[in-house]
Amino acid sequence: MTTKILRPLGDHTYFDELCHLIGADIVDLGHGEMLHFVDGVLFYGPIGGRKADLVSFDLCKEWNSHQGKNYSLKKEPLARALGVKGDGSITVVDATCGTGKDSILLLKFGARVIAHERNPIIGALFFDALKRAEKNNDKFSELLKDRFQFSFGDSSLESCLECDAIYIDPMYPHKKKKALPRKEMQIFRAVVGSDLDSAKLLDWARGLGVKRIVVKRPNHAEHLGDAPSHSYHGKSTRYDLYL
Ligand SMILES: C[S@@+](CC[C@H](N)C(=O)[O-])C[C@H]1O[C@@H](n2cnc3c(N)ncnc32)[C@H](O)[C@@H]1O
Repeated sequence: MTTKILRPLGDHTYFDELCHLIGADIVDLGHGEMLHFVDGVLFYGPIGGRKADLVSFDLCKEWNSHQGKNYSLKKEPLARALGVKGDGSITVVDATCGTGKDSILLLKFGARVIAHERNPIIGALFFDALKRAEKNNDKFSELLKDRFQFSFGDSSLESCLECDAIYIDPMYPHKKKKALPRKEMQIFRAVVGSDLDSAKLLDWARGLGVKRIVVKRPNHAEHLGDAPSHSYHGKSTRYDLYL
């Protein structure tokens, strides 16, 4: 896929890094491309469209949404499935980073996180959000520098991972619904579609000799592979653990 990004106005030292990262063509403003900067933020959406039609990722907002919440790692299904201890001693590879929401929740739980994303558009939006969050000089930016790594590319190209657990949350083939899904999900459907190779991703993870592999599924969905060792249930989601 060739992704075109509009060069931002003003100074964005990471812009060349971003283009290199996703192998993008750089075009001038005015060509009506898909990814573009508005006030220093990278957006996906129509050029000149209403702000309501544009999508960007915001890691700080996500992090702040967890503040003041006292998560019990003994009760949270995701933390239990991954065996997170809350003291930075457990490293989780988030093999399907997407918006990074789950990665940030894992940081909040006290894990170290290495995240991978292979889609160039999602990867660019995430990278932009990460760079903005890292610039803030606050507790969250320190945490990101200390406990978080991001790589752009296909997780399954890694042949050796030093981690305690691998987390997989692939796109699930969607059912036709009358109501439109939220804006973020619409872009995932438009630019990612369904991750039809997700069973292979599970096979890859299980072949690495990592202690715990966890797959997120809708509660009603069948298993991605054979039956897991255990399933941890949330309200609408299930975490299948493969030991
Ligand atoms: C359902 S979304 C993940 C949502 C994510 N957990 C979050 O918190 O936003 C799935 C993402 O995984 C990515 N993905 C799927 N297979 C991948 C692979 N083999 N390597 C890297 N990324 C992958 C897709 O491009 C998509 O962005």
